[in-house]
Amino acid sequence: MKKIFVLTGAGVSAGSGLQTFRATNGLWENFKVEDVATIEGFEKNPELVHGFYNNLRQTMLHAKPNNAHLCLYQLEQKLGKDHLFLVTQNVDLLHEKAGNQDVVHMHGRIDECVCLNCRRISKTLQSINFNDKCPYCGATHTLKPNIVFFGETPMFMDKIEQELQKCDIFMAVGTSGVVYPAAGFVATAKYYGAQTYLFNLEKIQNNPYFDVQIIGDASVSLPDFLTKHFNEICS
Ligand code: OAD
Repeated sequence: MKKIFVLTGAGVSAGSGLQTFRATNGLWENFKVEDVATIEGFEKNPELVHGFYNNLRQTMLHAKPNNAHLCLYQLEQKLGKDHLFLVTQNVDLLHEKAGNQDVVHMHGRIDECVCLNCRRISKTLQSINFNDKCPYCGATHTLKPNIVFFGETPMFMDKIEQELQKCDIFMAVGTSGVVYPAAGFVATAKYYGAQTYLFNLEKIQNNPYFDVQIIGDASVSLPDFLTKHFNEICS
């Protein structure tokens, strides 16, 4: 059985009502990236950053998975964890809510915060205040959402690199392909011989690494594609 690598981005959760980042009216239209998604922004105005992620957390925790998430759960059930490697750039938990057991969150998770003093991670379903104490070391003014900010290194990169080299099929779903290192995964997979697919609302221009680009709402196009072509591409 073939090895499938799936990379998802904000577009996979658009069908669940979550805003993407770069669309008109997307998250980055109303907030400046440097204010809410950089360490410098966090140092300058931690309350603003916590406020932004506190709101996002509540929205994300209330969202429900759509058919794109659900078909990736079915894929995990059919292939097993040795044959499906699912990496998401999303900090929402919709793949887990759909049922997936093995999800690699390379940009972190909205339900966690990290203490910048002791580096331990705690679960956070409620709002975080900058005054809150770290439950482990007791420090105050040190809790940061466990989300990778611009300038920080994404998580699990060694494992991701290994899986990119081993996969037979690479699928990117709902991502604009502008944020590295994730934007470069398709080139690595292609270099090591994978067949490469993109499922996105719009075409990614000038990207020679995708063999096939399937344009449309991923909550429709991905289940359709997997229903029609699962045997052909996965066995
Ligand atoms: P973007 O907002 O950059 O891109 C979302 C992509 O999804 C766009 O290309 C849309 O065309 C596409 N899209 C929208 N709705 C869709 C749908 N229903 N079906 C299929 N595709 C759809 O989001 P990402 O590529 O995920 O980083 O952004 C990458 C990173 O930039 C994010 O993880 C975030 C951000 O800054 C961090 O927060 C660390």
